[in-house]
Amino acid sequence: MQSSLRRHLTYWLLGPLLLLVAAGTFVSYRIALNAANKAYDSSLLDPVLAIASHLRRNGTRLELDLPSIAIEALRIDTEDRVYYSVLGSGGEELIAGTARLPAPPERMQPGEHIYYDATLGGERVRVAARAVTVDNGGTAIVQVAETLIKRDKLVLELLVASAVPQLLIAFAAVTLLWLGIGQGLRPLDRLRDEIAARSPRDLRPVSERDKPQEVRPLIEALNQLLARLNAAIASQQRFIANAAHQLRTPLAGLKTHAELARREPSTSELRSLLDMIAGETQRTSHLVNQLLTLARAEPGEAPSGQPINLHEIVGRDVRDWVQRAVGRNIDLGFELEDAWTMGEPLLLRELVANLVDNALAYTQTGGSVTVRTGVRAGESVIEVEDNGPGIPEAEREKVFERFYRVAATGGEGCGLGLSIVSEIAGRHNARVELAGPAGARGTLIRAAFPRLATQPAQPALPVSTRAVPTSR
Ligand SMILES: Nc1ncnc2c1ncn2[C@@H]1O[C@H](COP(=O)(O)OP(=O)(O)OP(=O)(O)O)[C@@H](O)[C@H]1O
Ligand SMILES: [Mg+2]
Repeated sequence: MQSSLRRHLTYWLLGPLLLLVAAGTFVSYRIALNAANKAYDSSLLDPVLAIASHLRRNGTRLELDLPSIAIEALRIDTEDRVYYSVLGSGGEELIAGTARLPAPPERMQPGEHIYYDATLGGERVRVAARAVTVDNGGTAIVQVAETLIKRDKLVLELLVASAVPQLLIAFAAVTLLWLGIGQGLRPLDRLRDEIAARSPRDLRPVSERDKPQEVRPLIEALNQLLARLNAAIASQQRFIANAAHQLRTPLAGLKTHAELARREPSTSELRSLLDMIAGETQRTSHLVNQLLTLARAEPGEAPSGQPINLHEIVGRDVRDWVQRAVGRNIDLGFELEDAWTMGEPLLLRELVANLVDNALAYTQTGGSVTVRTGVRAGESVIEVEDNGPGIPEAEREKVFERFYRVAATGGEGCGLGLSIVSEIAGRHNARVELAGPAGARGTLIRAAFPRLATQPAQPALPVSTRAVPTSR
């Protein structure tokens, strides 16, 4: 069943409301009943007093000096049957009336009267009784009882009179609430229409004007989402545009040179043109590779990690790097200790490759580069340090942007390497820090990964080597 605000609120209100109605009905019913009972009781006392005033003493006996027609008149009632009795000698002897009236529940002093409930021949009755003293001839008890027909009728009337209006009010409240919720939620309908009418390109914030206060947090959250989406789409579009631009230039060069090469008769010039073609092809394929790596590293697919020793990740590509380092006369050193984390080996290799690639590319001939792995402050880290030109403080954030290259940087590169590094690090919940090595020129880049506590057996041996020993 779908959740409904209306239903929820109605149920919530209905229970307490019915309880209140019941309590209210009960209280007003009791008050009215009390008042009505008092009125009926005092009119029941009237015939008692009338009979009592006609008791006479006849010798030692008491008698009722009232013609039977007068007694009948006292007993007349439109709805109830009325019974009476006069008992002499302290209640022992029946002087007049019916013998079956139930005796009063307590003793009365002369001149006192009480009311009580009783049954007479299986019928419920209300009785008024009074103790009377007659001319020093002893006391008599006068009782008048009446059935409860008109009292019961009154009870029912009072009950209906107090319950019906309260029930009506409760019903009206629920109905109004039901309608009010619809009315109150109307701004949401407007909001829905507003959003539904938008084109998918329209990511402007939704206006908070004439929206109720309660809906504003929702709109705020929606607007924040729209803003983030906008930023994401903008960056995506910039990325696509830049990528297209970057691809177009080398490919255009490739095409021109290929055409020129075809027209060229001389073999030596042909070779140099073909060399250019080879270089451009190399750069194009590097760019395409970087783009593909970036696409793989971007969030999207869920990462499927496995326990990985960063030491081993570095170990796999050492040979290529050493060749390049030797070619540029760079002192490439390794200080490798075990550092376990969860990750994807291929992506982590790309991360390290890009860091080492930068260090080897931007460090001057005769410089030195050191690659380290190990555990620092409870994190598994990879560090690549060089004593090259370094990255100026102001550029340290920007170099992680896609296609950004520091202006003075020579060499070839498309500016994607460090974006790839930060994408891959982000995917592994790792931090990337860029600094200058303490007190010297150069660059130190560190990627710190969450350390994997339980390590598989057989740790790799610590390694510390330098590919090209130099006389530093
Ligand atoms: N070790 C370093 N020393 C000096 N400058 C560096 C170093 N690493 C990166 N940089 C600077 O940061 C810029 C961005 O590096 P990044 O790796 O993202 O791109 P790239 O090397 O130019 O291109 P790509 O790696 O995609 O081929 C580089 O152009 C360079 O200016
Ligand atoms: Mg690079």
